[in-house]
Amino acid sequence: MSEQFDAVDIIRIKRDRGTLSPAQIDWTIDAYTRGAIADEQMAALNMAILLNGMDRTEISRWTAAMIASGERMNFSSLGKPTSDKHSTGGVGDKITLPLAPLVAVFGVAVPQLSGRGLGHTGGTLDKLESIPGWRAQLSNDEMMAQLADVGAVICAAGAGLAPADKKLYALRDVTGTVEAIPLIASSIMSKKIAEGTGSLVLDVKVGSGAFMKDQTQARELAETMVALGTDAGVKTVALLTNMSTPLGLTAGNAIEVEESVEVLAGGGPQDVVELTVRLAEEMLAAAGVNDADPARALRDGRAMDVWNRMIEAQGGDPRAALPVAKESETVYAPADGVLVELDALAVGVAAWRLGAGRARKEDAVQAGAGVRLHAKPGASVRAGEPLMTLLTDTPEKFDRAREALEAAVVIAPEGSRPAQELIIDRIA
Ligand code: URA
Repeated sequence: MSEQFDAVDIIRIKRDRGTLSPAQIDWTIDAYTRGAIADEQMAALNMAILLNGMDRTEISRWTAAMIASGERMNFSSLGKPTSDKHSTGGVGDKITLPLAPLVAVFGVAVPQLSGRGLGHTGGTLDKLESIPGWRAQLSNDEMMAQLADVGAVICAAGAGLAPADKKLYALRDVTGTVEAIPLIASSIMSKKIAEGTGSLVLDVKVGSGAFMKDQTQARELAETMVALGTDAGVKTVALLTNMSTPLGLTAGNAIEVEESVEVLAGGGPQDVVELTVRLAEEMLAAAGVNDADPARALRDGRAMDVWNRMIEAQGGDPRAALPVAKESETVYAPADGVLVELDALAVGVAAWRLGAGRARKEDAVQAGAGVRLHAKPGASVRAGEPLMTLLTDTPEKFDRAREALEAAVVIAPEGSRPAQELIIDRIA
């Protein structure tokens, strides 16, 4: 079959800082998905996009072409508003777990398609799979039935949703081209728009543990995604939030589920509660519910009731004991003073090396592995006091995890204060 364009011409246009036409973009995504553009050609094009960027019209068309590569879901038959949250990924980011059932308390359906972890950021599905019996894979019919009955579902995206993104993301992952704003924005938004949610709240992370290390880049990513969502008719809002230190006191799988359950029981770390409540307020407002009090629904057990039903509906036993790592080691504070920095990336890498994350897509994760924190920035600490507990089933991993943590902690004289606000900005 003769092709409409030549891949090499498309690569040259981007290499020379030109603009791709809508027809060229449509062809590129379609040809790559069906194998008519080779991986090495797409890798070269991705690198040209990373270096030279794309304008808004190109990003919008690239996103539309990725949506058109697969199926689109439609939740209109549910008869209730839908809202979803997407985080660009961070360390200790378990917010989806308490958030989905919390929003569902107020009659808003939450179709939360989630992913697995790759590299130092954890994956929601890996965390939930530490619950005995719980399964991530649901058919579209099962997902609809659970949304109608329970109101919240957290599951894996089916193979039919934006297949172009699946292929492209795997290629970007091994060719150093993940960190390109047009490619990240189109990757995330193609899946969210194809998923068919009515409204979407984006949690764009900034800091060492996030893709975006500085606020200027994070803001540009947030603005690009909000524009893509809005243009596609999805009410979209973004929060810029701090990821220079882990969220909560746990980074791992089972230990993050345990912390999420504490939040659902009305307790848990203050930062996890604050972000969960704020994102719930944004999701509810975006779905047209303005008189809700999500903080109260955490305290009075209504969110926990939905959580229990949500886990049971997917075969899990919410009351079963969670797996525990076989081995542990403690990291102690090296000096007296105020903990002013506890680096998110270092903790994420340590948790990953302990077995909580995977290096390759096919690797298994350890349910019990991870890092438990005993202090957060702002706390006064004494030399020799436990700062963190490292958890793994494979003790030979401790040394590499300790190496990752060597420069993770900064302790300053008493009276110092860490400069960290959790919610940095809102973009709508
Ligand atoms: N998450 C995605 O789904 N895609 C990206 O490109 C980056 C993060």
